[in-house]
Amino acid sequence: MTATLELLLVGFGHVARRFVTLLDEQRGTLSRKYGLTIRIVGVATRHGRLILPTGLEPSAVTDRFTHFLATVPAHREMRTTPELIADVAKRRPATRDGRLVVVETTTLDIKEGQPAIDHVRAALSNGAHVVTVNKGPAAFAYHTLDKAAEKAGRRFLFEGAVMDGVPIFNLVRETLPAVTILGFRGVVNTTTNYIITEMELGEAFEEALRAMQVAGIAEADPSLDVDGWDAAAKTAALANVLLEGRITPQTVEREGIGASTAVRAREARTRKRRLKLVARAARVRGGVQAGVALEELDESDVLANLEGQQNALVLHTDLLGEIAIVQRGSGLTQTAYALLSDLLTIGTGVTGRTLDGRSRS
Ligand SMILES: NC(=O)c1ccc[n+]([C@@H]2O[C@H](COP(=O)([O-])OP(=O)(O)OC[C@H]3O[C@@H](n4cnc5c(N)ncnc54)[C@H](OP(=O)(O)O)[C@@H]3O)[C@@H](O)[C@H]2O)c1
Repeated sequence: MTATLELLLVGFGHVARRFVTLLDEQRGTLSRKYGLTIRIVGVATRHGRLILPTGLEPSAVTDRFTHFLATVPAHREMRTTPELIADVAKRRPATRDGRLVVVETTTLDIKEGQPAIDHVRAALSNGAHVVTVNKGPAAFAYHTLDKAAEKAGRRFLFEGAVMDGVPIFNLVRETLPAVTILGFRGVVNTTTNYIITEMELGEAFEEALRAMQVAGIAEADPSLDVDGWDAAAKTAALANVLLEGRITPQTVEREGIGASTAVRAREARTRKRRLKLVARAARVRGGVQAGVALEELDESDVLANLEGQQNALVLHTDLLGEIAIVQRGSGLTQTAYALLSDLLTIGTGVTGRTLDGRSRS
């Protein structure tokens, strides 16, 4: 069976723009292997909302939206973004047969995960699936949104919230049946790992941070990275999903990095140790204990050898001991891939194919 998925893009910054070019690059594979065609039916950002009733090819969206922003006079849209999501979902026939997907890539809000949580809720309650790379929904409201998705018979997927396209949530959900995750530790923030390793080599803090901003990898507000908030949000998301935690980024003990971290990092290196910003969480009696802190690690530790933009997560399990997942390169393509892989999970559900492209009998 073949199908057309309709996408409403909520947020159209670095990640979403790379996502639409990736959809174009993968067009042949999507069609041949998965029987899927993609149409963009709307783009909503703070500065403008463009609804595309007949849908547009992914390749045409960036130019069309840029032209729209440049030519349409000051934005007079009165609806909030959740209202717009609800309206689009109600109008599109694709919603009824589970072919409308809201792609949520708005800015991370570390205080309460909004407005992303409201975007996810509006999508699910009006019959759309959601894929997101925003950490807020899983870090602040995972259990509520997961229940809402189940009730609606739709998917709420967020693989890119942690370690970009490297499967963490999918890995545990799809390939580790009967395994209990007891805890984890990891280096999960690319910007701080890059800065620490650059400072070990003599680079200044501000220069290293600027490189991450130029690459579109640092958060829009870079203090979210350097103060440890991004790592705390990922820790909360991982703990809520994998450890059945009920925590938020605010309840994660947190430490960040600064220019003075350089001295500690270089000094540790002279003793054959590496300084890393480590995220940890474990099941404890009555809940989950979680924290983000600078730790000196022995050179033999898998986390100690992560250079530059590399990330890793070590899962502690009951049946398999430790499982380490290492990401050797991260960037916008990897984050956009996370959205693509979640989209394929939804798309193959619609067409009745498996992820290796076969028909489900
Ligand atoms: N960049 C990465 O490498 C990376 C990696 C993993 C995860 N993420 C996550 O992905 C998300 C997007 O990152 P990004 O780098 O693409 O950010 P970005 O370039 O700053 O883009 C954010 C987009 O969200 C829009 N937006 C913000 N509030 C909105 C609202 N209330 N309604 C509609 N649109 C809204 C912005 O609109 P305007 O343009 O009108 O302001 C902008 O288009 C963030 O949550 C981030 O944490 C990013």
